[in-house]
Amino acid sequence: MLIEKMVQGGEGMARLPDGRVCFVKGALPGERCRVEITLSKKDFARGVAMEILDASEYRAQPRCPLYGRCGGCSLQHLASEKQAEFIEHVERENFRRLAHTDLPDSFCIRTGNPWGYRNRARVVVSRDRAGDREIVRFGFREQESNRIAFFKECPVLTPALNAFLQGPAREIFTDKRKRFPREIDVNVFDDGTGKVSFYYAGMPAEDFEKYAQGAVDIGGKKIETDASVFFQSNLSLLPELVQSVCNAVDEGIASGKASDEWLIDLFSGVGFFAALLREKFKRVTTVERDEGCLRHAEVNLSANRPADARGTSVQNVSAPAEQWLAQNVVDVPATLIVDPPRTGLPKEVLDAIAASSVNRLIYVSCDPVTLARDYAKLAASGFTIGKAEGFAFYPQTPHLEMLLVLSR
Ligand SMILES: C[S@@+](CC[C@H](N)C(=O)[O-])C[C@H]1O[C@@H](n2cnc3c(N)ncnc32)[C@H](O)[C@@H]1O
Repeated sequence: MLIEKMVQGGEGMARLPDGRVCFVKGALPGERCRVEITLSKKDFARGVAMEILDASEYRAQPRCPLYGRCGGCSLQHLASEKQAEFIEHVERENFRRLAHTDLPDSFCIRTGNPWGYRNRARVVVSRDRAGDREIVRFGFREQESNRIAFFKECPVLTPALNAFLQGPAREIFTDKRKRFPREIDVNVFDDGTGKVSFYYAGMPAEDFEKYAQGAVDIGGKKIETDASVFFQSNLSLLPELVQSVCNAVDEGIASGKASDEWLIDLFSGVGFFAALLREKFKRVTTVERDEGCLRHAEVNLSANRPADARGTSVQNVSAPAEQWLAQNVVDVPATLIVDPPRTGLPKEVLDAIAASSVNRLIYVSCDPVTLARDYAKLAASGFTIGKAEGFAFYPQTPHLEMLLVLSR
């Protein structure tokens, strides 16, 4: 089969002799491959590249021995320096198909370290007996299976995180005085200074205080967090995303497209966007569903932090975004930052934005498919794209972080 292009998810797309499209795992645009069909439906098929007959000049040797088994990093067969370019094409087409719009010509993807970038991961911990010794191993779930792919060193985790898993974590999880389930999902969090925090469900309170707390320096501010709540997983590229969000706010206010009346940070996590932007607005509200974030948001946006010359009024709310928007009328020209999970914006949130006076919308997304779908609805309520940027937060995978700056 001849692979025509890359599609969302990183697979190659080819056409079967009967005209149906076939999504081929492990194949790159321009390649000719022998493909084993794994699923055949009326409209499309799926397959796996078994043999590459004509290889792309951009094909790379996967660096990780678990490539093809582990559920992550499915794009290692594409040269790191080409991944952003290929994904950019995919997202441009994605917007055309789902939002019937062209991303601006200036849309491009900012890249950082292709390896050793991931400061946060959920790993499975397994404890096995070997005689009277207990052996602790760490792994990730395998693709489409419940089996565990155990690793000694994962090439996309930061060195600090790998060192933690190879050393202190083994001690911690062999502690016989503590009860751990046989298999534990752990969130490991490296604060960028070498201190690694971690969390698992059911962690005793004293261990939470000792092990789970963390802090990150972003844009010159110390942001408090802990390993039980969401935090971005690529700390080396995060400052660039934050800078772009700050620039979008400044440009909005300076050009008159936005006002400094009210900043609302929806899906705010521990509130770091709002914490960095607080002094630019008269009023700031953060809204986040996870109650564990509220305590940190209150510290991160506290007036005790560096002088708040404007006396900005700050409100940190723990509630679902859709519920808060239903109960609060946004009737001034407000700037809204949304950073929802992969599922995108709930319908109630899109409806409330349409009916509100929000005139500047900064949409941070970890899933360009739901972003394009949501943009189609936002465009129908008058928003247009001022700027679009991509951030390669997840190299070796087909995932992309995106930023859209919208106005109306
Ligand atoms: C992608 S994270 C972004 C968090 C934050 N902006 C950051 O960068 O750290 C999405 C956040 O939305 C929260 N969340 C998910 N669904 C929500 C909802 N319906 N209402 C409010 N928050 C929600 C999650 O708990 C998570 O903290």
